[in-house]
This record gives sequence, C-alpha cells and structure tokens, in this order.
Amino acid sequence: MPASFPTGLVRADLDPRRPRFVETPWGAMALYLDGDEVLCAQAFCPHLEGPLFEGSVGSGAVTCPWHCWRYDLRSGARLGPLGVPLPGFEKLKRCAVSTDAQGRIVLAEPTP
Ligand code: FES
Repeated sequence: MPASFPTGLVRADLDPRRPRFVETPWGAMALYLDGDEVLCAQAFCPHLEGPLFEGSVGSGAVTCPWHCWRYDLRSGARLGPLGVPLPGFEKLKRCAVSTDAQGRIVLAEPTP
C-alpha cells in the first residue's frame, strides 16, 4: 500500500455543497470543501454502509442520507443532536490532505 495517493483533482474541482467521491488504494473516500480547507473521510457510512458521499455537508460535518447520522469530518466522530460527539461509535476513517506543486490534492494513508 502506498503512503500517499495523488487524486489528480484540484480545489476548484470540489463543490462545497456536496462531497466528491474518490477511489483510493485504501478504498472509497470522499473529499469535502469546508471553507478553504479540503477534508477527506471514508465514502460509506459505518452504520449500514450508506453513501456518505451523497450526504449533506455543512459546518465541517456530513449527514448520511440513509438514517441521518451526522459525523464530524475532522475527528470522524458521530455527532449528537447538539453537535456533541457521541461516545461508543465507530469513527470515520480520514486522510490527511495536502497539495503538490501544481495544486493537485494528495491524500495520505487513512487513520482509523
Ligand atoms: S447507513 Fe448511514 S446512518 Fe444508517
């Protein structure tokens, strides 16, 4: 497994209103544009594999379209109704994001 993966995408390819699906050597991930920051988390929900990459995004979180579980994109934690992390739930896998000299998005191997 490589330690990093060049997506070939640039920030302008991302829509802040919807995640962008990307297949990586570590499985399906999704890219998010949160303000100026690009975030990356697994594309399918830990609950029942719902398509998080089709979820709604805002305030650094994604909401699964199947049963509306909401996840913080930075910590990967499932969030409760008040935006507080709920203990005892599987976190989203996330990749650190950087850019190469041409501004293309590069992902690091995911952290659990
Ligand atoms: S599959 Fe995502 S909340 Fe159930």
